Amino acid sequence: MSTLHIFFSIVSVLAAIAGTVAGHNITAILSEFPEYSDFNSYLTQTKLADEINSRGTVTVLVLNNGVVSALAGKHPLSVIKGVLSLHILLDYYDNKKLHAISDGTTLSTTLYQTTGNAPGNVGFVNITDLKGGKVGFGSAVAGSKLDSTYTKSVKQIPYNLSVLEIDAPIIAPGILTAPAPSADVNISGLLDKAGCKTFAKLITDTGVLKVYQTAAANGLTVFAPSDEAFKAAGVPDLSTLSNAELVALLEYHALGTYTPKGSLKTTKDPLSTLATNGAGKYDLTVETAGDSVTLDSGVATSRLASTVLDSTPLCLFTVDNVLLPTELFGKSPSPAPSLSPETSPASAPAPDVLSPEPAAAPSPFLSPPAPPTSSPAAGPAPSDGPTADSENSNASNAVDGVKAPSFMLALATTSSIAVMMSYVLF
Ligand SMILES: *[C@@H]1O[C@H](CO)[C@@H](O)[C@H](O)[C@H]1NC(C)=O
Ligand SMILES: *[C@@H]1O[C@H](CO)[C@@H](O)[C@H](O)[C@H]1NC(C)=O
Ligand SMILES: *[C@@H]1O[C@H](CO)[C@@H](O)[C@H](O)[C@H]1NC(C)=O
Ligand SMILES: *[C@@H]1O[C@H](CO)[C@@H](O)[C@H](O)[C@H]1NC(C)=O
Ligand SMILES: *[C@@H]1O[C@H](CO)[C@@H](O)[C@H](O)[C@H]1NC(C)=O
Repeated sequence: MSTLHIFFSIVSVLAAIAGTVAGHNITAILSEFPEYSDFNSYLTQTKLADEINSRGTVTVLVLNNGVVSALAGKHPLSVIKGVLSLHILLDYYDNKKLHAISDGTTLSTTLYQTTGNAPGNVGFVNITDLKGGKVGFGSAVAGSKLDSTYTKSVKQIPYNLSVLEIDAPIIAPGILTAPAPSADVNISGLLDKAGCKTFAKLITDTGVLKVYQTAAANGLTVFAPSDEAFKAAGVPDLSTLSNAELVALLEYHALGTYTPKGSLKTTKDPLSTLATNGAGKYDLTVETAGDSVTLDSGVATSRLASTVLDSTPLCLFTVDNVLLPTELFGKSPSPAPSLSPETSPASAPAPDVLSPEPAAAPSPFLSPPAPPTSSPAAGPAPSDGPTADSENSNASNAVDGVKAPSFMLALATTSSIAVMMSYVLF
């Protein structure tokens, strides 16, 4: 009896957690309407479908194929994403509510407003109940016309999701001429300005920035730890890492796919990172609670703090903590990896990006640079050197490092159990 009782308590707790993700699937809903297949396809390509599915109260203003093709052909995907984002209202409007707007006019927040680059009223849509039962939509920017007219209601899941058809796209001033991100987006410059100077310098000095730039052509998502994150207690001394390990750590902070926040929120499987290779999984799991996203490396977790850039196919986020992969930091009681020289080359991904002199790589600004003997090519580090070798750790020095990771491990284990249980139950 009591076991059953506990089981049902767990089920209801998990159901409450699961309830934070809305149960609708816009792709499946629109697939029943061939006249919106282009719109639907763009929702998938831009990952806006994930964004819609991860929200509880949302109205999608759909356009038929003819309208979409007139718009889409001329513009890059990043611009189409901007335009379509204006068609996703963060409120619930059905036919009845459209005709019951108080004073006959209102502004609604759209998904565009959440992208961080919507000055003034650009991210809002004006909805006005016009004479003769017509409802007009337009940009909320002053002087814009109400050029889009409500034509019909397509689908409602009260009060979670509503799909309404309008006859013309809503265009905010400047939205069609927004520059498309290209290979020349200055990733390190943007991260530098976003309070991630340490990380920006690390990726530049190690050459990992070039790996990012190459990946960016097909899709790139970067999780850049803030400068505070590198100063936090329990962060391993990066100067004790070999160059290959440092490269792996930095590549671990990026995905080779365009994965904006809405897609992270709907992700269930572990995510491969740029560090993922045959020798190490280097993956990340994602946990979502409401609008908050947490990344779990298996050693520790980190909150997704802010979006620096979300522009197809590039996404730059800041995170609160350095992400510590289990492949480097999981098995050792020491905060720094104590990989033997035999194992480290095997777990070192992408050796082609290494500079010819790996030993010279740890950036000069990091506190005491590892002696040249710690290079992967050299033999075991001398036992008296200030290296990563955990056995040499002085008890007083070790306290910070050992305690923090084991505490984080306990946390990570607890959350993994919750994740595992939810897999079993659903
Ligand atoms: C939504 O529906 C589409 C098409 O039916 C399907 O391919 C996709 O996997 C579904 N997404 C989720 C998150 O269930
Ligand atoms: C609406 O969303 C909530 C969670 O936000 C969910 O619990 C509920 O089942 C959804 N309703 C419908 C009809 O899908
Ligand atoms: C919406 O636009 C119309 C026409 O430009 C304007 O009269 C109305 O005040 C606007 N509504 C709001 C809430 O700003
Ligand atoms: C990127 O920005 C940084 C800092 O703003 C600057 O030092 C660097 O020269 C820029 N790189 C390019 C290629 O423009
Ligand atoms: C441990 O560290 C303290 C202070 O940093 C130092 O005085 C002591 O000699 C060290 N002990 C060993 C065994 O290294």
